[in-house]
Amino acid sequence: MKKVTILDIMQMKGEGGKIPVLTAYDCPTAKILDEAGMSIILVGDSAGMVFAGYENTLSVTMDEMRYHTRAVVRGVNNAFIVTDMPFLSYQVSIEDAKRNAGLLIREGAEAVKLEGGVIAADTINAIVDMGVPVMGHIGLTPQSIHRMGGYKVQGKDKRQRKRLLDDARAVERAGAFSIVLEGMPADLAREITETISIPTIGIGAGRYCDGQVLVIHDILGLYDNIKPRFVKGYADLKAVISSAVHEYMEDVKRGRFPGKEHSFQ
Ligand code: KIV
Repeated sequence: MKKVTILDIMQMKGEGGKIPVLTAYDCPTAKILDEAGMSIILVGDSAGMVFAGYENTLSVTMDEMRYHTRAVVRGVNNAFIVTDMPFLSYQVSIEDAKRNAGLLIREGAEAVKLEGGVIAADTINAIVDMGVPVMGHIGLTPQSIHRMGGYKVQGKDKRQRKRLLDDARAVERAGAFSIVLEGMPADLAREITETISIPTIGIGAGRYCDGQVLVIHDILGLYDNIKPRFVKGYADLKAVISSAVHEYMEDVKRGRFPGKEHSFQ
């Protein structure tokens, strides 16, 4: 397998095939995704929820994203690694944004992702100008949960649709190499995908995007605090882990473990 680069990803748009993306936050999981041939691994700030147990992504810090990036990088040979810029790491000033993007790249990320359309365009442009690829993220943007009044589908009326189209164009113009479209009607995601020249990666945005991203804990059945309708479950690892843990406890309680083969004579 060959190392995936930003050029490969940008070329995938319009080639017919779709771009698969999953999140990872630790080394062994990243290794499994990489060996499976995943094009992009996203070190998402969803780590705050599915890994650390926070209620939302707002508490996630730069130190935490640097730690998760370091862990993921050690498990990856080929996939393209994108790390989320956490809340407050890019909104306050462009200087902050550039420094924090640089710190994530130093940890081994190959691109950063940040939320926002028109409002984030200057920041995206400044980060791209310093040589760091940026993935945009518009629609349902979890770091704006309080402004949206919850995790709500965006772009349902005419005015919001126009705003999201403007956002997508602004992100493209600012120099982003791709863009996540989250929580919006499938026909709007289709229109955006057909309008802009960079690959769109959908989550809860229907089937017409150039790629799809999901949170790994969601597809493996490891996170059940929130169950979004757009998630497809591919395994029930919670049940698998629970059964293994029960078996181990029974073995210890009944003296079946450790056996002779697990002991030193
Ligand atoms: O944090 C994350 O995992 C994300 C994706 C789900 C798009 O931003």
